[in-house]
Amino acid sequence: MIKKGIILAGGLGTRMSPLTKAVNKQLLPIYDKPLIYYPLSILMLAKIKDILIIVNKGQLNQFKKLIPSGKNLGIKISYAEQKSPRGLPDAFLVGEKFIGKDNVALILGDNFFYGQNLTKKLQECSKLSSGAKILLHSVSKPEAYGVAKLNNKKKIIKIIEKPKKFISDYAVTGLYFFDNQVVKIAKTLKPSKRGEIEIIDLLNKYKKRNKLYADFIGRGGAWLDTGSIEDFYKTTSFVAAIESRQGLKIACIEEIAYQYGWITKKHLIQSTKFYGNCDYSKYLKKLIFRD
Ligand code: TTP
Repeated sequence: MIKKGIILAGGLGTRMSPLTKAVNKQLLPIYDKPLIYYPLSILMLAKIKDILIIVNKGQLNQFKKLIPSGKNLGIKISYAEQKSPRGLPDAFLVGEKFIGKDNVALILGDNFFYGQNLTKKLQECSKLSSGAKILLHSVSKPEAYGVAKLNNKKKIIKIIEKPKKFISDYAVTGLYFFDNQVVKIAKTLKPSKRGEIEIIDLLNKYKKRNKLYADFIGRGGAWLDTGSIEDFYKTTSFVAAIESRQGLKIACIEEIAYQYGWITKKHLIQSTKFYGNCDYSKYLKKLIFRD
């Protein structure tokens, strides 16, 4: 059972410059809330309540202004700084103390997941006791992602970063579940040509041990990676369309905590005070008066 999760929310955000020159990407808005609320909501939906947020050196205060602690969410939030963006598996080195002897989930701070049955899938994935599990999603441009080739039993036979030649449509999404070996294995990784330690290398080490498992976000689900300005605005339009149609918010972290019984109405009231007079607070007030 995985009870700990890491959100990797540093990075340079080069592709989104100048937007990211002064502000970290994860603090920029996807429609009506900062980007980081979305990956945080995913870990919460997986019932992970002990969460480490890794941020760039010098950006801790900005994040703490937004998410000072997990108190109003009934969860535990800790922070750590990454000296420089030296690669995704660095999360397990920066987070070594936080992880301790436990298994851990990792979500990239700029990944967006949505869809029917997602919550059930997340809770199944977090049952992992040994090995590594990744979520795959079909994409139209696999050459831009880490891609997994599967055999007819849907077992991963190959995993390649940005394949030049087509091997499959299945991209590796930015949500991973690992056993405790991950810390030890991450320490053995050597930087790639681009000077980073690579998540694909880490996954390949699990594959070599026959311990890499795949699950799928089917076509009823959406995975969007918000790395470029275009993707960022596509995700914003997606959230705006669904929220305005349904009147329900995607990634309202207080709503999730309340539904799971981690917090009471008292906490919701405190959150409305924290946010002030805005639409987000009005939404929380609706929850308070609904039942
Ligand atoms: P990337 O999209 O690989 O990098 P980036 O966000 O810095 O953007 P760009 O390529 O435009 O420079 O990172 C994916 C996510 O992981 C993103 O949310 C930033 C985060 N990240 C870290 O926190 N530390 C790291 O060392 C790396 C590589 C990424």
